[in-house]
Amino acid sequence: MPKVFVLNGVNLGSLGERRPEVYGRQTIQDIEDLLRAEFPDVEFEFRQTDHEGEFVAWIRESAGSDGLVVNPGAWTHYSYAIHDALEAVSVPKVEVHLSNVHARDEAWRRESVVSPVVDAVVAGMGAAGYLAAVRYVLGR
Ligand code: DQA
Repeated sequence: MPKVFVLNGVNLGSLGERRPEVYGRQTIQDIEDLLRAEFPDVEFEFRQTDHEGEFVAWIRESAGSDGLVVNPGAWTHYSYAIHDALEAVSVPKVEVHLSNVHARDEAWRRESVVSPVVDAVVAGMGAAGYLAAVRYVLGR
């Protein structure tokens, strides 16, 4: 059974309540349920944290897995610690954003410090972006 880590960072625990017009009405639990239903033969480590150090430790833990899907939330835009952790892990890696960060109003959202160290980026597909990302890492 392939093992895939799906790691959600800061503020993603409040999906469903936080700016639903941007991030949709699905909760983080709904996204986990969607993945488990779509990929019954995958062993998921599906997690969320607001603590950057914990997120970094989980990225490291994913080194022994078959793939890593990360939505680092706002850390995407400034965390060199997460950049370095991702760079050190050589499993297939995808960066996912629910919203199209390139079409958002704030200029800082259009920048990602982690994109250079992942294999692919998905943005703006909502929860379906996670499905696409898992499909990609399984195909690698
Ligand atoms: C996000 C985009 C980030 O800019 C934002 O800080 C988030 C969510 C997304 O999934 O669209 O928390 O990563």
